[in-house]
Amino acid sequence: MIIALDGPSAAGKGTLARRLAAHYRLALLDTGLIYRAVGARVLADRGEGGETDRAIEAARKLQPQDLEQPGLREEAVGAMASKVAAIPEVRLHLIDFQRRFAKTPPGHAAGSILDGRDIGTVICPDADVKIFLTASAEARAERRFQELQAAGATTIKARVLADMHERDVRDSARSAAPLVPAADAFQLDTTTLSADQVFDRVVAHIDGRISRRGS
Ligand code: C5P
Repeated sequence: MIIALDGPSAAGKGTLARRLAAHYRLALLDTGLIYRAVGARVLADRGEGGETDRAIEAARKLQPQDLEQPGLREEAVGAMASKVAAIPEVRLHLIDFQRRFAKTPPGHAAGSILDGRDIGTVICPDADVKIFLTASAEARAERRFQELQAAGATTIKARVLADMHERDVRDSARSAAPLVPAADAFQLDTTTLSADQVFDRVVAHIDGRISRRGS
């Protein structure tokens, strides 16, 4: 089973993906980490050649262990990830990595779940299940603000909302794999839902699909 889980930042994908992976015994790939690893490399090599060329080179050389380096969740890395993700050659270099994971998940997993922005549309258009989570920009900014505060960061809510808006616009307006729901995705607005409610609704959808497929 391959599950494609897409949506904008802080819509609840990460929490849902971890719970679905445990529930269905699937290997999980947070594809945002791939773009973050490329962004981190571009930030680290600052001053050596053009940003676009450095990003393409970093994408070409990406190794699985690069996703485990510390600091990938930092806001500056996220902002650079969203910039490098708009470069078509960067995305092209990263397609095989993601498809290989989806088709041959590590360990003895019964399948895979990939979360990102273009999994249902570009990376795994034949996924067994496609889910697209959304939430209002205010709700997503509030969640991100709480996360940052819990992590000890000093920031103001208006700044978090502005940064999120900037990233949303870039992710949705880019020509290469823009953030759009797949036509056959199960769409869920999580603005007023708890993590448990989101999980229950998505599991009901997935189980319904599995039983329809089996009958
Ligand atoms: O989800 P996360 O915030 O970790 O993603 C960082 C950035 O990587 C996003 O803002 C987006 O621009 C990019 N991304 C993408 N396609 C994916 C996953 C992430 O373009 N499948």
